[in-house]
Amino acid sequence: MSAVLTPTAAPSRSTSPITIAPLGDVLGAEVIGLDLSHPLAADDFARIHRAHLDHHVLVFRDQHITPGQQVEFSRRFGPLQIHVLSQFALAGHPEILIISNIKEHGQPIGLGDAGHFWHSDLSYVEKPSLGSMLHAQELPAEGGDTLFANQHLAWDRLPEHLKTAVQGLRAEHTYLARYEELRARNPWRPALTQEQIDKVKPVVHPVVRTHPENGRKALFVSEHFTTRIVGLPEDESRDLLGQLFAHSTQPSLQYRHAWQPGDMVFWDNRSVTHLAAGTPEHLRRKLYRTTIEGSVPY
Ligand code: SIN
Repeated sequence: MSAVLTPTAAPSRSTSPITIAPLGDVLGAEVIGLDLSHPLAADDFARIHRAHLDHHVLVFRDQHITPGQQVEFSRRFGPLQIHVLSQFALAGHPEILIISNIKEHGQPIGLGDAGHFWHSDLSYVEKPSLGSMLHAQELPAEGGDTLFANQHLAWDRLPEHLKTAVQGLRAEHTYLARYEELRARNPWRPALTQEQIDKVKPVVHPVVRTHPENGRKALFVSEHFTTRIVGLPEDESRDLLGQLFAHSTQPSLQYRHAWQPGDMVFWDNRSVTHLAAGTPEHLRRKLYRTTIEGSVPY
């Protein structure tokens, strides 16, 4: 555990017992009995940290927390990352990205199509995200689910010939990979300024990474941000990535989160990829996301 995970200025002992209830065989657990509006006691923090490594997606129901409390809880796990689309940050909280399809006075208040393709958050930077927290603010009466796919299992279940083919390979990730395609579908998406483009230069990461805390291997490519495998001819790279994308997102690897009011979901971007399943256009959806910096993948 890195030094940054050391609890700060919080009681060392829990006052109420918490339960970690798995949400299925593939990934995910519900944390019962924890109120995130209070600073986490040291032993509760240790349990949440362990559960996050074991289950990869944690669901905390019925959390009535302020944006400041979300930021504070997120910071317990590491420094926070600021999204390149800073125009969608919550006023007064640059670390919070508004994910929303709501328009006010004809203008989007947040990133409405975040997660439209499978991805791991911020895989397009040198130090991709350790994990993300998403707190429900306003939910649609139907739709709006988030899907998660277990990338440790994706690696474990990869056919032997593909394991051999991808060992040691590296792939390019870039934020720009599908930006114009998304803009063509959703014209409200802002054109990127040169300063924003300069912040998201392509990076190269291993196709198979080792989780720095649980030690397990995971596939680390995604249809949203991975553009090519370094050193392979273009057609071979496209074919191999196509096989990996299909394998790594198959339903048998997935947990589907149906949001309830007050939900806070905390996932491990080193272990899972995720996808926003979509919201009917006439229904409003708003969530606040914080993103915790991870380490350089190896
Ligand atoms: C995301 O990709 O971070 C957003 C997921 C969602 O809106 O369900």
